Amino acid sequence: MKKFPVDFIWGTATSSYQIEGAAYEGGKGPSIWDAFSGIPGKTHNGETGEIACDHYNKFKEDIQLMKNMGVKAYRFSIAWTRIMPTGKGNINEEGIQFYSDLIDALLEADITPWVTLYHWDLPLALQLEEDGWLGSKIPDYFAAYVDVCFERFGDRVKNWITLNEPWVVAILGYGQGVFAPGRISTSEPYEAAHQLLLAHSKAVHVYRDKYAHQNGQIGITNNCDWREPLTDSDLDKEAAERALEFFLAWFTDPVYLGDYPQVMKDRLGDRLPTFSEEEKKLIKGTSDFFGLNHYTTMYAAHDDGTEKERCVYGNGGISEDQDVDLSLDPNWNLTLMKWAVVPWGCKKLLEWISKRYDSPKIYITENGCAYTDKLVDGEVDDQYRLDFYKGYLEACNEAIENGVNLKGYFAWSFMDNFEWASGYDKRFGLHYVDFKTLKRIPKKSAYWFRKVTANNSVDF
Ligand code: GAL
Repeated sequence: MKKFPVDFIWGTATSSYQIEGAAYEGGKGPSIWDAFSGIPGKTHNGETGEIACDHYNKFKEDIQLMKNMGVKAYRFSIAWTRIMPTGKGNINEEGIQFYSDLIDALLEADITPWVTLYHWDLPLALQLEEDGWLGSKIPDYFAAYVDVCFERFGDRVKNWITLNEPWVVAILGYGQGVFAPGRISTSEPYEAAHQLLLAHSKAVHVYRDKYAHQNGQIGITNNCDWREPLTDSDLDKEAAERALEFFLAWFTDPVYLGDYPQVMKDRLGDRLPTFSEEEKKLIKGTSDFFGLNHYTTMYAAHDDGTEKERCVYGNGGISEDQDVDLSLDPNWNLTLMKWAVVPWGCKKLLEWISKRYDSPKIYITENGCAYTDKLVDGEVDDQYRLDFYKGYLEACNEAIENGVNLKGYFAWSFMDNFEWASGYDKRFGLHYVDFKTLKRIPKKSAYWFRKVTANNSVDF
């Protein structure tokens, strides 16, 4: 039996706006996702996170279900608007109480909290008054908000993630406009990303300067697909490398190496903001671990400029800036998101990260798949999800055997939830949620996951 390392962390993940609901309860202020999802046409069927899974009221039941699955860790996010309804100034004690109770209940159940401080639900007031992530003061507001979280929860929370997937915020929120705040631009993504990185770095310094005595760890979570060269040609190999640099190294080079990748500087010129020498020093080394969200793989080829069918599945960032053509192998299985199931891509990505950043400690903070799950006779037979997880976890195991310092794995997601612009029909959960009754039902994959955590292995 192939085992994972003894101290390997098994967890599940969620985020505030996707599960909490109670959007206008408990003194919470509106976020950009409340506003964005309220605009007709922005989400599937006009769905919003107003009720979502009502986790705000059902968190105790959810913790019990997690316990039944045998997970040792739970990654959730704090809604900035519950702590500070307008993003700055006044603290909402009801919001503090909610997370405090959640944390206590998790510890009581022997589940370690992993807390993300920002999973996309920016206070609407900061969008209106400060221009959101384009505003120059936003890193300071973020630092002030996280300071409150460290102070109030840091006695019990020892694992912090500053930002979830700044790439998505920048590209989908400020480039393609398909996520909040819905802006469309070819320059704003780079500006927003810059402010996000500065905010991350400030947050880490607050933690290290003021809360070192709490003895926790803090890092950032980035998302990246694998890019496999379409052919053996040097041009395609360079294109795949370039695509990974525009996707992941955009955020992780500053954090690990102190600056943006050279290829981005060369290609973007003035559109890529620059870090001052002071900022480079401040940002370098601001992650105690490498948080990775990984979902899929695509082929990358050099774009020679000839007119061809554009990749319909996007996810490449701003393609004109990269000259990379993305494509899929027609034989690959696709999930409901149209993301290809390619476990070996996960292994290759882990090895790429390990090599580029000198074997950092890595946690996969999200990996999972959406399918059209059906409840039949009170059960959900999601064998396809089980196969997905098995394949990806085997790939993780091989990466560990090859020397990758992978320390943990969080399945996305603990339960079906509000899948952003895709609404409620894209089910990613290990638990099925009936969105009418809000009843939760463990899927076949949840029962299987229990065996995985018990055996510390996927072959049993
Ligand atoms: C990630 C995101 C999650 C979840 C997942 C599935 O990008 O962090 O919130 O939605 O994708 O699409």
